[in-house]
Amino acid sequence: VTGEFQAYLAAKRSVDDRALDRRTLERLRTALAAPADRPLRVLEAGAGVGTMVERLLEWDTLPPGDVEYVAVDIDPDSVAAARERLAGWAEDRGLAVERGGDPPAWAPVTAAPLSLVGPDRTVTVVPATGDAAEVAGAAEGADLVVGMALLDVLERAALPAMLSAAAPGGLAYFPITFDGGTRFVPDHPLDGAVERAYHAHMDAKDDARSRAGEAALATLERLDATTVLAVGGSDWVVRPGPDGYPGEEAAFLHHILDTVEGAVAETLAGDERGWATTADPALDRDALADWADRRRRQVDDGALTYLTHQLDLLARVAGTPAQSAGPQLE
Ligand SMILES: C[S@@+](CC[C@H](N)C(=O)[O-])C[C@H]1O[C@@H](n2cnc3c(N)ncnc32)[C@H](O)[C@@H]1O
Repeated sequence: VTGEFQAYLAAKRSVDDRALDRRTLERLRTALAAPADRPLRVLEAGAGVGTMVERLLEWDTLPPGDVEYVAVDIDPDSVAAARERLAGWAEDRGLAVERGGDPPAWAPVTAAPLSLVGPDRTVTVVPATGDAAEVAGAAEGADLVVGMALLDVLERAALPAMLSAAAPGGLAYFPITFDGGTRFVPDHPLDGAVERAYHAHMDAKDDARSRAGEAALATLERLDATTVLAVGGSDWVVRPGPDGYPGEEAAFLHHILDTVEGAVAETLAGDERGWATTADPALDRDALADWADRRRRQVDDGALTYLTHQLDLLARVAGTPAQSAGPQLE
């Protein structure tokens, strides 16, 4: 089940581990309280291969006690990879892995749970295929809603749907939200044009996806139902050490270069909205291919540094248990 994209998401874990804003994560840890009479409920949308489940457990971000963790992704290959990866992760830590049973009633998914059973707690993970907004829109009562590296790929309207899954007083955490910076070092004369064309490609799908972090922060600040608890930068910094790139980060960079080249090629072909006004006439298909080849050789030579700008956002979703209709969202 593990294809190139799933390998990319696995390679991305060490990059994200370095990047995640620790103050925002600490605020999340202290704000999360274990419910007295039931397991903690977490809904993650766009969960990929499940690296955030591992991280929140390894880093003791979730409070002690049982957890129900519904991990939804639209891509069935990633969901299958998450199921396999999390079982291996649990076995490596001496946790018993039990399969079967029903998914929790609060989340509208049909997939079979994977229970990771340790001496002190059971974490019931449900990797399930589904659309973020659809599942979140029909779920309710989550103590925590997570969307990592997600808001720049979703339509803006998906954010209120995600928030509506939270219980009154629940939390929403959106780390690694892309926010408009794509840099490569050493510099190249076409870098500016490549960056603008790459971001124009994102913005052609939906306005301001290339500034999804800023847009999500504005939405969370504007909505009556949400209070922003913490915001921090979570820029990716991928650079070689004396022995090359850490872990699988060279493969991560090759995937990024393929993505950037593919998107810019589409922008050149389609002359996407907004880009033409800033277009550099020197950037044509041949120049793009040269740029990408040079960058790939720099990865192979351990000579490329890649930087992005991202935001981690944490908010509380207002409401009291008496507001059974749920939070008022736009
Ligand atoms: C950039 S990846 C991030 C994956 C994971 N959160 C991580 O950080 O490793 C974005 C993920 O969102 C998923 N995705 C895209 N659109 C989605 C949607 N409408 N509903 C649910 N998942 C979606 C993709 O399949 C992909 O796994």
